[in-house]
Amino acid sequence: MKKTLFVTGGAGFIGSALIRLLIKQTDYIVVNIDKLTYAGNLESLKAFSHNERYHFEQVDICDKHKLTNLFEQYKPIGVLHLAAESHVDRSIVGSEDFIQTNIIGTYTLLEVVRDYYTKLKSILDTNTLESFKFVHVSTDEVFGSLGDSGYFNEKTSYDPRSPYSASKASSDLLVKAWFHTYGLPIVITNCTNNYGPYHFPEKLIPLVINNALQLKELPVYGKGNNIRDWLYVDDHARGLLLAYELGIAGESYCIGGHNERTNLEVVNIICDILDELKPREDNKSYHELITYVKDRAGHDYRYAMDPTKIENNLGWKPQETFVTGIQKTIKWYLDNQDWVAHVQSGEYLKWVDTNYTSRILDRFI
Ligand code: NAD
Ligand code: DAU
Repeated sequence: MKKTLFVTGGAGFIGSALIRLLIKQTDYIVVNIDKLTYAGNLESLKAFSHNERYHFEQVDICDKHKLTNLFEQYKPIGVLHLAAESHVDRSIVGSEDFIQTNIIGTYTLLEVVRDYYTKLKSILDTNTLESFKFVHVSTDEVFGSLGDSGYFNEKTSYDPRSPYSASKASSDLLVKAWFHTYGLPIVITNCTNNYGPYHFPEKLIPLVINNALQLKELPVYGKGNNIRDWLYVDDHARGLLLAYELGIAGESYCIGGHNERTNLEVVNIICDILDELKPREDNKSYHELITYVKDRAGHDYRYAMDPTKIENNLGWKPQETFVTGIQKTIKWYLDNQDWVAHVQSGEYLKWVDTNYTSRILDRFI
């Protein structure tokens, strides 16, 4: 009999990559539980909308009653929890949704899963019960900011510094507590910056690609010398599947690709590739669009990850380097301008809201 997995936040950037992996390369039945905030985009999954192994449920993870019904209806053997507010700049402007979804939503989900897991214990044999896991998808930002040397790993102390990272750190701590107190079989992953196809164009890489193609300014915060460790999204998705299938309950796994770049390097690389793949009609270089703007408040200087544990214990290895992944990403955006246009016009929200246009055209895209 096919087993069912729940993916929360499956209409988002990483969740949709995970669902594409699960549908194409496994035989799990996948239930995508997503509230469809501004960041949820069902167009990213339209290839599967009629797939018999894919189900979509528009549910808020803060809604205990609806979540409980979903667990009773589908009886999943695992949960991969990605639903979150994910954009640091938005958390600085207003943190309420971050506290609500990332903390209260995770707490609500944990309580529903605890109740469900207790019932499973009385009906499943030990072997089947052992496949049940709750994978909490978190970020390297919970560890704070590094100087010019050193790496985060599973033993690094928590030191979140933005409203976003503080809300993610809170949720990690709740998840750990539900393991220690109630024996809920959880696994936590902490990953570095992702990039790749279907990335909402509020984040650095898709924003720069799309602004460049529209000949708009490419905003670089401060001097552009902050460093991020970039991971291609499909490599992250494979790590999450391994964490579910092979991860040890109660443990956390750090995921990163050893691809550190300053923000200015990233923007310059994107301009170089676009100059080659899609030269400007006015014969100027995209580099001329680079604009230094006011720095992000509390901007963390450097993130970098040591992924030795997941490499050695779960056999995970990234398949893309930044050089190969960024080429693929830019080509995807060049070939999928409709997807971007629908986000920018608000048309992608027609799935949930007929008054969509006024909601989406904000200052982040
Ligand atoms: P995203 O913003 O693209 O997607 C988030 C999804 O969650 C959206 O589909 C949204 O509709 C949904 N959602 C939001 N609130 C919800 C609620 N209350 N109930 C149900 N669904 C809700 O985010 P992403 O970049 O795909 O990140 C996914 C997860 O991975 C997040 O938990 C994030 O913290 C974590 N993460 C992201 C990165 C990264 O670089 N993007 C790196 C490490 C970890
Ligand atoms: O490290 C993992 C985190 O990576 C995830 O947990 C977050 O969900 C994800 O959004 C991402 O956070 P960042 O803040 O690092 O990503 P963002 O793309 O917003 O910014 C990347 C870097 O680029 C950061 O140093 C700020 C800078 N930046 C960003 C934007 C949007 C700019 O210089 N200009 C910009 O316009």
